[in-house]
Amino acid sequence: MTNARQLIAMIRSHAAGDDERFLSIAEEIAGEHERLGRTKVAGDVQRLVESIRDNMERAKTAGGITPLVRPRGELAALVRATYPELNLGDLVLGADLDRQIRRVIREHRERVSLEERGLQPRRKFLFSGPPGTGKTMTASVIAGELNLPLFTVLLDGVITKFMGETAAKLRLIFDAMRNVRGVYFFDEVDALATSRGNDNDIGEARRMLNSFLQFLEEENSQSIIIAATNHKTLLDPAIFRRFQASFKYEKPSAEDAKRVLMHHLLPFDIENLDWAGVTAAVSNLSQADLAAAADDAARDAVLDNEGLLTAEVLIQALRDRLAIHGQN
Ligand SMILES: Nc1ncnc2c1ncn2[C@@H]1O[C@H](COP(=O)(O)OP(=O)(O)O)[C@@H](O)[C@H]1O
Ligand SMILES: [Mg+2]
Repeated sequence: MTNARQLIAMIRSHAAGDDERFLSIAEEIAGEHERLGRTKVAGDVQRLVESIRDNMERAKTAGGITPLVRPRGELAALVRATYPELNLGDLVLGADLDRQIRRVIREHRERVSLEERGLQPRRKFLFSGPPGTGKTMTASVIAGELNLPLFTVLLDGVITKFMGETAAKLRLIFDAMRNVRGVYFFDEVDALATSRGNDNDIGEARRMLNSFLQFLEEENSQSIIIAATNHKTLLDPAIFRRFQASFKYEKPSAEDAKRVLMHHLLPFDIENLDWAGVTAAVSNLSQADLAAAADDAARDAVLDNEGLLTAEVLIQALRDRLAIHGQN
C-alpha cells in the first residue's frame, strides 16, 4: 500500500519537477500491489508509467528538441523557464569575449571528446559589466546554441527575511540543476550579498551569500550556472573563486555599435548611410540603447519618412536615447 514516505517523496519530486524520481516511486508502489495480489491496480499503474516514459522519450528524441520541462510547485515561484532561439549571430561582442563565449559553447558541444580524456566542460561562470551590454542575452544564446532550457532564477522569490528559508529555496534550485540539465541564470546576483531586510542586517546578507557560495561549490551537475552582476565591485573576492571563469562586459566600440545598429535595421537599405556621422553620435550608449534606438529610428522611418532610413533619422533616435540618460 502507498505509505506516507512514498506519498511525501512523490509530492517532493513533483514540486522539484523530477519526473524520473516520481515515476520510479510509482513503479515501487505498483510492485508492492503486485506482491499483495492486487494485480489490476499494479497493472494500471505500471501501464501509466510506461506510457508516460514513452512520451518523455519521444519528446527527447524529436529532432534533438529539448523536452518541455516546466518548473512546478514551489520551484515555479523561484525560476522561470524559457526556450531561447537566439544564436551567436544575434550577439555582438568584442573579439576576446566573443572567442571566450564560443569556446564555452564548444566545450559543451564536444563534451564527449573532453570526457574521453578525463576532462569536463566548464560550467560555472560570472558575467559582470554595465546594464544593457549583453549579459542576459549571452545566457540566452548559450542556451539557444546548446538546445537547453534557460532557467532564470527569480531572486526576489528566493530572498526572504528569514535566512533558513532562503537557504531552503536555494537548495530547491540547486537540486533542480541535477534533475534537469539547463542553463541556470542568477541575474543581479549581488542582491544576495546586500540585505533587503528591515535593519541593514549585514550578518544576514553574509549568511545568505555564504549559503549560495557553498551550494555553488558543492554542486556537481551537468547544468551550466551563470551569475551576472552590474556591480562587480560590490562582490567579495570570495565569490570569484567559486566560478571557473569570469567574463567582463563593456559598452561597445564604435565598430561594434555599428554592428548592433545594422543587425536591427536589416529590413532597410542602409548600405550607403553616412556611417561616420552615425558612429560619432553613439558615444557611451550601451548595446541595449543602440538596439532600442535602431528600433525607434525604424518606426520613425516608416511613419515620417516614407520608409527611408537616413542618417539624420538614426542620429536623432540616438540623440533621443542619450537624452533619456541625461547626456545630450
Ligand atoms: N552584446 C549585444 N549584442 C547585441 N545586442 C545586445 C547586446 N547587448 C544587449 N543587446 C540588446 O539589448 C537587450 C538587453 O540586453 P541584456 O542582455 O539584457 O543586457 P544586460 O543583461 O547586460 O543588462 C538585448 O535583448 C539586445 O536586444
Ligand atoms: Mg540582464
